[in-house]
Amino acid sequence: MSPNLKIVSGLKVSSVFILIVGVLLVCCVHEPFIDPTSLNGGEANTPGCVSDGTVCFESSVLPIFISSCARSKCHDAITHKDGYTLTNYNNIVRKGITPGNASTSKLYKVLFASGEDRMPPDAPLSQAQKDSIAAWINQGAKNTVNCNCSCNPEQFTFLATIKPLLESNCVGCHKPGSLGGNINLANYTAIKAQVTNGKLVGSITHATGFSPMPQGSKLSECQITQVKAWIEAGALNN
Ligand code: HEC
Repeated sequence: MSPNLKIVSGLKVSSVFILIVGVLLVCCVHEPFIDPTSLNGGEANTPGCVSDGTVCFESSVLPIFISSCARSKCHDAITHKDGYTLTNYNNIVRKGITPGNASTSKLYKVLFASGEDRMPPDAPLSQAQKDSIAAWINQGAKNTVNCNCSCNPEQFTFLATIKPLLESNCVGCHKPGSLGGNINLANYTAIKAQVTNGKLVGSITHATGFSPMPQGSKLSECQITQVKAWIEAGALNN
């Protein structure tokens, strides 16, 4: 081979190499991988309060994902539709969150998509739920836990406390069209029925003989106290 030819074939080999590396790079960039532990050194943060404007992941954001996305046949550990298991912090952040930027976060954008791309497919999240997710992402999508400083056990009226509590933690799996265990928790009358038969308290206190709820987690002590206090005061529609 003449020296000239060698250079030419060398060039060919290196351009093929560059092409392959380029394609690999594009493939990786396509699905940005964020190591969730890099956000906070792998440690859960010192909690912030919802009242001081910081959204708590554990008490405000995770329950929305669990009850609205991680239902059975959707993004739970068993079905993990389209590769999404949205049951814990690492999975949620790794697959679809750009910390600090809700508007470019895939898991946020799908809440507003049209047609069957919109998530959840049966009914959109409420504005308050979308706002919590957006604020949490824009605040850096941190793994804030044990932050129940916004929970006051002395507060337990139905409209201000109990209904929003059930909406965030339970209703995604317990509403018409998605009736886990045939239990409806989407309106006062239906909830009252589960108070009367003892299942509401039995399930949230994880009492023997009841299915522990919410599936795979437990409400905070303060939240359980609120529900019990509301029931003791007559479970009013107040
Ligand atoms: C991810 C979905 C999911 C979430 C979130 C969830 N549930 Fe359930 N729930 C189910 C399913 C499925 C069943 C039926 C199977 C079973 O009993 O485990 C059920 C059963 C129940 C039952 C009947 C229990 C029994 O022993 O008969 C009650 C009461 C209940 N849920 C209340 C709640 C409450 C209250 C919350 C929120 C604090 C909640 N659930 C959150 C899916 C869910």
